Amino acid sequence: MIILKSRREIERMKAASRIVAEVLEGLRSLVVPGVSTYDLDMYAAAAARKRNAKCAFHGYHKYPNSLCCSPNDQVVHGLANKSQLKSGDIISLDFGVIFDDFYGDAAVTLPVGEISSEAKRLITVTEESLYAAIEKAIPGNRLGDISASVQDYVESRGYSVVRDFVGHGIGKNLHEDPQIPNFGIAHKGVKLKPGMVLAIEPMINEKMHEVKVLADNWTVVTCDGGLSAHFEHTVAITDSGPEILTQLC
Ligand code: MF3
Ligand code: CO
Repeated sequence: MIILKSRREIERMKAASRIVAEVLEGLRSLVVPGVSTYDLDMYAAAAARKRNAKCAFHGYHKYPNSLCCSPNDQVVHGLANKSQLKSGDIISLDFGVIFDDFYGDAAVTLPVGEISSEAKRLITVTEESLYAAIEKAIPGNRLGDISASVQDYVESRGYSVVRDFVGHGIGKNLHEDPQIPNFGIAHKGVKLKPGMVLAIEPMINEKMHEVKVLADNWTVVTCDGGLSAHFEHTVAITDSGPEILTQLC
């Protein structure tokens, strides 16, 4: 069942989402060679606390960190540790909070120092696929328009879409209906309505789409060792178009 949000509820979700955006913005300048994902996780937890927000992922199904840190061939749900990131790495950072009863959820993939042109292109195309999908988040379109738009955008540029993890509705729960695959068929699926709030999150692999979960039961990696990138926004569908809630202005 898809839970529609009122204008007032969307405003409350905007407050939670803004905190997420601020924390991810603060992390940007910390992502330099020598920093550890442990340091990044500590920053995110402290930044949320300072804003009276609760980290959404910490303790979720026993997830041990506040910030999901997934370098290089890690796709999502990477665990923080004390080893240092080095120039040439890429790192996906996924963060969520609960504030005033509502969740906000967003992710970015950032370069560490100087990265290869191949890695840069993967990051750019993944981010662009998110914005292309957000443009489809308008009343009257269908869920498949969002899914197909990510798939078409990245596959036509030589990349592949992760199948085993999907975006989701969001509200008073981190994960609500509908599930939002990053692959699908345009004009199919549920009709998009004002008041739907969606966490759209393309997870895109440089090479093959297959992924596996490591023995820690969390870390998702590409099977072939290729790079993976991830971007996510919490987006409200309104009569006047998509409203990106996890955005600073
Ligand atoms: N953005 C992810 C999601 O939508 C983050 C969840 S990580 C977890 O599910 F640790 F909380 F599972
Ligand atoms: Co999410």
